[in-house]
Amino acid sequence: MSEPLLELDHVTKRFGRVVIAEDLSLAVGTGDTVGIVGPNGAGKTSLFGLISGDLAPGGGEIRFGGRTVTGLDAAARCRLGVGRTYQVPRPFGDMTVFENLLVAAQQGGGLRRRASYTAAVAALERTGLSSQANVPAERLGLLQRKRLELARALATQPTLLLLDEVAGGLTDPEVAQLVEIVREVNAEGTAVIWIEHVVRALTPVVSRLICLTGGKFVGDGAPATVLADPAVREVFLGTEVTAALAGGSLEPPSAAGGDGAAGGERSQP
Ligand SMILES: Nc1ncnc2c1ncn2[C@@H]1O[C@H](COP(=O)(O)OP(=O)(O)O)[C@@H](O)[C@H]1O
Ligand SMILES: [Mg+2]
Repeated sequence: MSEPLLELDHVTKRFGRVVIAEDLSLAVGTGDTVGIVGPNGAGKTSLFGLISGDLAPGGGEIRFGGRTVTGLDAAARCRLGVGRTYQVPRPFGDMTVFENLLVAAQQGGGLRRRASYTAAVAALERTGLSSQANVPAERLGLLQRKRLELARALATQPTLLLLDEVAGGLTDPEVAQLVEIVREVNAEGTAVIWIEHVVRALTPVVSRLICLTGGKFVGDGAPATVLADPAVREVFLGTEVTAALAGGSLEPPSAAGGDGAAGGERSQP
């Protein structure tokens, strides 16, 4: 890795006595794909807060694109190329899907009128939401809401995309479509860090997997190696891990969209 796109250097964060980041160091390169797993309350969402600027660290330094961003707020970091989704989608409910994307492109991405329009249209098309462009966001179902959340992050034209549990609650074919979208975005050079409980959504996308527990990394490497690590299994036991180890992976959307599409199993939210 030459110059890392993102670097966390001994970052620490506590909420009272709860340690959510304990001396965390991490380097992610341009175009990298990293998955993050870990039990509830491990500090995964908080880690995104520290990277995106929603949370200020108690100690340590964060660098993005070669500059120190520790003191920059979320708006400034978004303009530099850090795009994130939220675990609980946060659209402006009374605005249409397209208006939500325009706001993201202008306010988040700092794009001017014409460029913001182009970015909003691209995000709409990329996430398959074109037919919903004029629908108020509050009328969208779960899948479309998740897509809008992703589209809002994409409309800011990120070079680093942070995905926080975007697959939770979706059916297998829906997850497969999401995986395809993320792969396409990554193929164009955007680095992806994806927090996901649904491990089988991660494994087709990420080349590196990290397990976070109690504000510490307990595994970092090739997904199969990390999932087989006894220390990881101890903190992250579950059917998802077992399924991933057994080689259970998603069919591509074309195959998944066939017979099984209607009755797909819902993944755990
Ligand atoms: N703003 C906050 N104030 C106080 N405690 C918080 C705050 N945000 C998160 N926490 C606590 O920090 C811990 C980690 O939360 P979180 O990062 O959301 O974990 P995860 O995403 O891994 O489930 C939890 O114990 C949570 O209750
Ligand atoms: Mg979380």
